[in-house]
Amino acid sequence: MTSARVAAIPGDGIGTEVMDSAKAVLARLLPLTGDNIAWTDLDWSCERYLTEGALMPDDGLGLLREHDAVLLGAVGWPGVPDHVSLWGLLIPIRRMFQQYVNLRPVRVMEGVPSPLRPDLAEGVDLLIVRENSEGEYSEIGGRFGAGTPVESAFQQSVFTRTGVERIARFAAERAERRRGRIVAATKSNGIIHTMPFWDEVVAETTAHYSVETTFEHIDALAAKLVLHPARYDVVLGSNLFGDILSDLAAGVCGSIGIAPSANVDPTGTYPSMFEPVHGSAPDIAGRGIANPVGMLWSTVMMLEHLGAARAAGLLMEAIAETLRDPATRTADIGGTADTAAVTDAVISHVTRSAA
Ligand code: NAI
Ligand code: MG
Repeated sequence: MTSARVAAIPGDGIGTEVMDSAKAVLARLLPLTGDNIAWTDLDWSCERYLTEGALMPDDGLGLLREHDAVLLGAVGWPGVPDHVSLWGLLIPIRRMFQQYVNLRPVRVMEGVPSPLRPDLAEGVDLLIVRENSEGEYSEIGGRFGAGTPVESAFQQSVFTRTGVERIARFAAERAERRRGRIVAATKSNGIIHTMPFWDEVVAETTAHYSVETTFEHIDALAAKLVLHPARYDVVLGSNLFGDILSDLAAGVCGSIGIAPSANVDPTGTYPSMFEPVHGSAPDIAGRGIANPVGMLWSTVMMLEHLGAARAAGLLMEAIAETLRDPATRTADIGGTADTAAVTDAVISHVTRSAA
């Protein structure tokens, strides 16, 4: 990357606070690495919904389409139902832009207290690859016989060969660049049509790569991710299984305030979207104490995606340095620093190591 166009959607609550942090860090970092971002600032949020009746304008997706990436804070606010904010902004972006990969790196970072025993938390470094466009989260189905004794609900999963192949290829490419191991979540013993198909296509697809693929039933895998998280490298899951495992793994690492994520269209046809895992945190919003690390780590993923490898590396190293120092940790991870202090610390680490 030398220059990229990025749409910034701070959203609501602490979304705006962590966005300010990311932009302040990038303003100092990018000139040092010869990169540049041209920002489009968008006020799409619940606040906009309350005044204008929609989270984004009618041509919102068309506008985003002109960008190389989207950086998002968090969307959601009391008084606006969560399904309105989710279906009014995030889901349309993920679906229309074919962001069929949801990526969540999970690492136990030095300085972040994990609820696990120290010997179990040691060396946890895994990547969750979640299918983000089909599977269990489909709109196919409905109600039958409403109001009668036979009232029933039907929800149809959709697993396509195209969909499973492309997510399996993505997981295999990532695994080749890591420790070469994929564990795919399944439930082919209980779910006898879609899951054996998933297993078959994942096995066939990943056989073309230098990776070892094994399958574990989702229930056993959930337990093992808590008992031996360090054994895992790439964990591949369908939409539902990947969703659940991502939060489980983030919990294993301590704070939701540090967890990053990316919604990726690996073909590059559409912009990909990078966002911290956390929400708008109305309980702490406006106090300047939000942990910006989830957002900054998501920014690292965006820089990698945009091809700014050196900037990404410097920022990740600065995040790790900042977490290591008890004086530059926020309250959610046992410190007393505020958002501005953490941001300043990250800026001084990147400035020093770039010199
Ligand atoms: P949340 O993630 O906003 O907050 C959960 C708890 O974690 C709160 O106690 C909060 O203070 C704390 N927390 C979260 N991020 C933190 C950070 N960076 N630093 C320090 N503490 C942090 O989840 P919650 O409360 O369930 O949702 C609040 C709103 O955010 C809702 O409207 C929800 O729909 C929305 N939301 C939006 C998401 C998105 O934009 N992708 C994701 C999750 C929730
Ligand atoms: Mg989730």
